[in-house]
Amino acid sequence: MYDIVQRPRRNRKSAAARGMVRETHLTPEHLVMPLFVVDGQGVRQEIPSMPNVFRLSEDEVLKEIGQCIGVGIRCFVLFPAVSDALKTPKGTYGVDPSNFYFRIARSIKANYPEVLLMSDVALDPYSSDGHDGLVVDGQIANDATLPLLAAQAVAQAQAGFDFIGPSDMMDGRVGVIREALDEASLTDTGIVAYTAKYASAFYGPFRDALESAPKSGDKKTYQMDPANRQEALREAELDAQEGADFLMVKPALCYLDVIRELSVHMDRPIAAYNVSGEYAMLKAAAAKGWIDYERAMPEMLTSIHRAGASMILTYCAREYAQRYKAGNLSF
Ligand code: PBG
Repeated sequence: MYDIVQRPRRNRKSAAARGMVRETHLTPEHLVMPLFVVDGQGVRQEIPSMPNVFRLSEDEVLKEIGQCIGVGIRCFVLFPAVSDALKTPKGTYGVDPSNFYFRIARSIKANYPEVLLMSDVALDPYSSDGHDGLVVDGQIANDATLPLLAAQAVAQAQAGFDFIGPSDMMDGRVGVIREALDEASLTDTGIVAYTAKYASAFYGPFRDALESAPKSGDKKTYQMDPANRQEALREAELDAQEGADFLMVKPALCYLDVIRELSVHMDRPIAAYNVSGEYAMLKAAAAKGWIDYERAMPEMLTSIHRAGASMILTYCAREYAQRYKAGNLSF
């Protein structure tokens, strides 16, 4: 026997002891389920690089949301997969009143008025250039993009979205969007700003899902350098000043320190996006039998919550909530 007075293991000696001192409890009310939506009827098309994630038409989305609500998910973010024929340099389909994205949002709110719906604001789903901003002479034109984003945001809010999610990383867009919403008397519509969105390799499967990869170049002149943390604080201060209701960090796993940094320094709730590549990585390793998905998935989501995110966008949301409800979650 050694003379060790402090023995932290005493608080870990049984499941009951560990439960007593557990510091982080992730409940489904913090989770947001992303859904890829398409025009048409009866479409349920699996995305090859994202097992168990589908492109869904309106009827299928309604079914999916009903199931998610049944296990306690209350917030959804919608991404439109638009056919190439509808894509233009200015992404005009993004504000077209007959846009299926708006139709599906209205239908969701009519069927399930209790849910929170989040949108995605950026040109890329509708742009023939595949960029989030307008391309002028091979450059991403910041200020010329802003009115296009504001018009998208207002049209989305009018279709019933509760939160507008600018994911484009143009300078000044949160302020311009807030002003446009307020001018249209949409003062109850919130903004979840993609504040620290990094130029990440982990968006690959998402771009497969939407066929939205840039036609030329990359997104490094607007998305952040993965090496930077201080710059995230600068972005956060600007977005907060401009009227953001949530500040998002994206991706989540490689950027837990950034989530922590913002949650400590900012007086706004933090959102984190556990992105497509993070999901694909776990699913692929699990399919090979190289990782125990049942334990790794809740460990991953709990770590994002522990770092300081109160809103977590994750493709695992429904699975997590199902297991939470069944009392079958452990790591
Ligand atoms: C683009 C957008 C992207 C994601 C959400 N909105 C991709 C990109 O910036 O290229 C990625 C989400 C994910 O990977 O799960 N506006």
